[in-house]
Amino acid sequence: MKHLRSLNKYFYKYRWRLILGIIFIICANIFGVYSPQVVRQAVDMVVSQINYYQFYKGSGNASEYLRVFGTTILFFGFVVVALAIARGIFMFFMRQTIIVMSRLIEYDQKNEIYNHYQRLHLDFYKRNNTGDLMSRITEDVSRARMYTGPAVMYTINLVVLFILVIYTMIRVNAELTLYTVAPLPVLGLTIFYVNGIIERKSEQIQRQLAFLTTVSQESYSGIRVIKSYVQERFMNQYFENEAEVYKTKTLDLARTEAIYFPVIFLLVGLSTVSTIFIGGTQVIEGKITPGNIAEFVIYINMLTWPIASVGWVMALVQRASASQKRIDEFMATRPDIVSPDVAPDEIHGDIEFRHVSFTYPNTGIRALKDVSFHLKKGQRMAVIGRTGSGKSTLAQLLVRLYDPDEGQVLIDGKKVRTFHLDSLRKQIGYVPQDVFLFSDTISGNIVFGLERSDVNDELIREAAMNASVLNDIEQLPKKFETLVGERGVTLSGGQKQRISIARALIKEPRVMIFDDCLSAVDAQTEQNILTYLNEVLTGKTALIITHRIFSLLTFDKILVLDHGMIAEEGTHDSLVNKGGLYAELYEMQQLEERREAGAPVNSRPA
Ligand SMILES: Nc1ncnc2c1ncn2[C@@H]1O[C@H](COP(=O)(O)OP(=O)(O)O)[C@@H](O)[C@H]1O
Ligand SMILES: [Mg+2]
Repeated sequence: MKHLRSLNKYFYKYRWRLILGIIFIICANIFGVYSPQVVRQAVDMVVSQINYYQFYKGSGNASEYLRVFGTTILFFGFVVVALAIARGIFMFFMRQTIIVMSRLIEYDQKNEIYNHYQRLHLDFYKRNNTGDLMSRITEDVSRARMYTGPAVMYTINLVVLFILVIYTMIRVNAELTLYTVAPLPVLGLTIFYVNGIIERKSEQIQRQLAFLTTVSQESYSGIRVIKSYVQERFMNQYFENEAEVYKTKTLDLARTEAIYFPVIFLLVGLSTVSTIFIGGTQVIEGKITPGNIAEFVIYINMLTWPIASVGWVMALVQRASASQKRIDEFMATRPDIVSPDVAPDEIHGDIEFRHVSFTYPNTGIRALKDVSFHLKKGQRMAVIGRTGSGKSTLAQLLVRLYDPDEGQVLIDGKKVRTFHLDSLRKQIGYVPQDVFLFSDTISGNIVFGLERSDVNDELIREAAMNASVLNDIEQLPKKFETLVGERGVTLSGGQKQRISIARALIKEPRVMIFDDCLSAVDAQTEQNILTYLNEVLTGKTALIITHRIFSLLTFDKILVLDHGMIAEEGTHDSLVNKGGLYAELYEMQQLEERREAGAPVNSRPA
């Protein structure tokens, strides 16, 4: 249970709420234990008055006597109701303080975890799958809440109730108390045991349900594959089998639960019987009054539910502890890349790589080997190479998503590690290779990197125009307010790429990195966008990663990467003349372009 200690700081934070909650619990229970005493007095009064009534019967005062008697009983009734209302009010406040406290703690925890996630390194996201990350912030936090809320509340309630009830009972009669309370530990243990079984079975059911959900989810997203491979019947059968397992398990659980309540009632019944029997003999001996028996029977009933819930509470605590352990483990992961403690600094755009090597820690793949280049402010460089040659890695090192193992990345002659991290990333317009749009409007996606108050529609339009996506957007029914993502419109890969280019352009950064961001656009759009880019990029330092050669753009420098190393370096003309990898690529591309244009590449027989 030691993991739950990390929740103590929250209890401390909300200590006044907690203390108030405890006071409410005590008040509720004080009113609770009063009402059996009122019942005792009522019963005792009835018993003694009936004797007097026998005495008055037949005389003229009898009806008057009955009236007074009835009024007194009514009065007792009112007192019981009033006590119940008072108790109810305090119970309301007890929930209002303690359960609300647990919700506040849940809120704090969720925010803390989310903030922590955001600071963690990309590697962390490679190591942990999204489902795990999600369940930390949803399931585990809500399990921890079951401890800070209900478990704490019921435990305090049980302790307070127990002390008050047992104290009152012993004051009446210690011996009878012993006989009455004796079956309760058995009740507690039985319930604890049965609860364990129920827990285990529910856990299995939960797992099966999660599996069923995954199966159905996959078959919805993969419906095209299923239909085209005519596997509907197979999938039906598969789903039915798994649903059958689920059904069997739930029925099994229902059977166990069915004996749960009878057992509780049996034990409570035994307790009641022994109270009445032992109490009865003591009434005969004159040690207690009949009202005491009634009082005790009510006490037993008051104790039953809190004791019955002990098993449940313990299960809650165990689960919360396991969840909190997982949360703590996640919170203990430290971000590898942290900003140095410096003031944000403006960058001008001089970029240099000095003998940079980089190995991915999780796979051990050496993605860059001894890469050096220098790009002066305002220059434009293309990085070309096959898939896996290390192009994207190079870009990621520049925005410090990773730090190099050897060598240095310099901006304006200073090591990139010495820059304020957020300000560095804000000043570089980076279009990553894997386009990602949020489930938001198109304009929301474009202004993503900015304070929304800094932008107006004009700027958004301009960015979209420069990214050559304005026409596409204007054709959508709601234009810039169109929702994208799962429930919005489906955009083509090329449209998404261009929207993410607009997102980078609107920041008006000094340095721009485009990572293969025209791979999904057609030749015509490519030409359009390159014409715009030529203009937009003037004066900016730009690093354009591509697997195609853009003849429309002139570059100050072209790097050809191969297996993480610089294979060739130079300008377009010098590289074509050299007749190496670049020249080969260029020739192949021209051949392809000619074929697309309809020119005969090889003559076919008519
Ligand atoms: N996150 C990663 N973890 C481990 N290995 C990676 C990761 N990203 C890329 N790699 C590997 O590093 C090499 C270079 O990848 P990358 O820079 O993405 O190449 P390119 O962008 O030129 O296609 C490849 O062999 C790739 O498998
Ligand atoms: Mg890449």
